[in-house]
Amino acid sequence: MCQRGVGAIVHGPRGTGKTYAAAACVNMAVSRGRRAVMGTATEIANAVFSSRDKNAEMGRICGCDLLVLDDYGAQRATDYMREQVFEIVDACYRYRTPMIVTTNLTVRQMAQADPRVFERLFERCERIEASGANRRLS
Ligand SMILES: Nc1ncnc2c1ncn2[C@@H]1O[C@H](COP(=O)(O)OP(=O)(O)OP(=O)(O)O)[C@@H](O)[C@H]1O
Ligand SMILES: [Mg+2]
Repeated sequence: MCQRGVGAIVHGPRGTGKTYAAAACVNMAVSRGRRAVMGTATEIANAVFSSRDKNAEMGRICGCDLLVLDDYGAQRATDYMREQVFEIVDACYRYRTPMIVTTNLTVRQMAQADPRVFERLFERCERIEASGANRRLS
């Protein structure tokens, strides 16, 4: 999928292994000599927008071979954070950086949360539904 520039939206209820699966993809990519960045939307937004050289940090993220945006939709829904997340997704979209997004939101809820983010991810990502029991409770 990295070679094809394709990513994934991994959606489903809590504890169904979305972060675990995304981390496994990061491990696989890194073991093959690729560069990957993984974090929550808040962590990645903070890394970019609180850095001294925002352009350089954004370039580092867009220039990686795989970006994992973990727990999309759990970030604080302020206009400021929405704009930051959009800027990151849009930059990666333009650079064709493969993205894996994990989320508790349904595809419909993602579309409602931010249509601009959703459309870019929808175009570039396969949808994978995580289902089953909450592994933390079973
Ligand atoms: N394939 C797996 N094999 C073994 N353990 C797993 C597997 N997938 C997930 N787990 C374990 O199940 C628990 C929940 O997984 P994970 O944190 O990935 O869920 P999640 O879907 O990201 O949850 P949330 O929506 O709350 O973020 C973790 O302890 C994780 O280590
Ligand atoms: Mg998770």
